[in-house]
Amino acid sequence: MKKEKMKTEMEVFICNHSRDSGDDNCAAKGAKELTDKLKKWAKEEHKGEMKVFRSGCLGKCSEGIAIACYPQKKFLLEVVPEDYKEIREGLEEALKDIKD
Ligand code: FES
Repeated sequence: MKKEKMKTEMEVFICNHSRDSGDDNCAAKGAKELTDKLKKWAKEEHKGEMKVFRSGCLGKCSEGIAIACYPQKKFLLEVVPEDYKEIREGLEEALKDIKD
């Protein structure tokens, strides 16, 4: 086993899990589109500080789209793709709090 300190200040995991049936999963609620946008934004605006990952199920399916933020250890739940701007602003504020 090897241990290594993470290089980024913040890591954001967005559930993109899908199921064959039903819409009680984050993929069916538009997680892919939202993840693509947030990944692009984080890479362009916060490279080396914040990283956005596409994740598997976070165990909050009925409350999805679910997003987990570290090191805050907080979930953003019942997210819809239209929340993009608000999420971006919240993540920037959280990053600023870490750096201050
Ligand atoms: S499908 Fe997204 S939290 Fe389970």
